Amino acid sequence: MEDRSEFLKGHLSEIDSPDSPFKLLKNWIEGAQKMEVDEYSAMVLSTNSSAGSPSSRIVYLRDFHQEGLVFYTNYNSKKGREIAHDNRVAVNFFWKELEQQIRIEGIANKVSDQISNKYFDDRPRGSQIGAWASYQSEQLSSRSELEGRVREFEEKFADSAVPRPPHWGGYVIFPDYYEFWQGRKGRLHDRMVYQKDADGWTKIRLSP
Ligand SMILES: Cc1cc2nc3c(=O)[nH]c(=O)nc-3n(C[C@H](O)[C@H](O)[C@H](O)COP(=O)(O)O)c2cc1C
Repeated sequence: MEDRSEFLKGHLSEIDSPDSPFKLLKNWIEGAQKMEVDEYSAMVLSTNSSAGSPSSRIVYLRDFHQEGLVFYTNYNSKKGREIAHDNRVAVNFFWKELEQQIRIEGIANKVSDQISNKYFDDRPRGSQIGAWASYQSEQLSSRSELEGRVREFEEKFADSAVPRPPHWGGYVIFPDYYEFWQGRKGRLHDRMVYQKDADGWTKIRLSP
């Protein structure tokens, strides 16, 4: 399991790091798009249960702007229930091709119904039916139970557009902490942290 590969693809200096973490996030995401990093928008999302036990899963980043990072899911899922209880979340991207990791922490809030509707309306019909048919994170007796529900909703909406289920929509994560990690030779990696405080963002370098 030991991996002794060296990280040699880039560096991150104080000069390369703008005062706004959003600018750096945008630069890095655009860089990942340009370099065609496989699944660059897949991010690990961690939430907290009421028992204080963290849980993680991958979701897709669907939009990002000055205000935060947007993903879509089932509000009744495990993650949805955990966010309802405690909306502090953490996010992690790892892009092997660029030897980059981004860690983000912040607060998740539901996006407006209009934003969720617009996103839902643009999804393929199969995904729209799936959002009705899957009671995400609930136990299934069998695969055929799920497939039966898919047929049920296909019939129900056979002659109409599929409306967004009320339990399905987006969250926007408002970050208050970012860490940009660039792999370097000899494990002497660059780690630039942006921490939000009353005066704005404070930027510091962390030891690798
Ligand atoms: C590459 C990838 C992308 C995924 N994107 C999403 C997504 O955008 N939204 C979502 O709800 N689940 C997505 N999933 C499924 C989740 O990882 C997870 O299985 C599901 O949301 C249930 O999680 P929960 O039970 O913790 O709520 C994705 C999984 C993978 C592997």
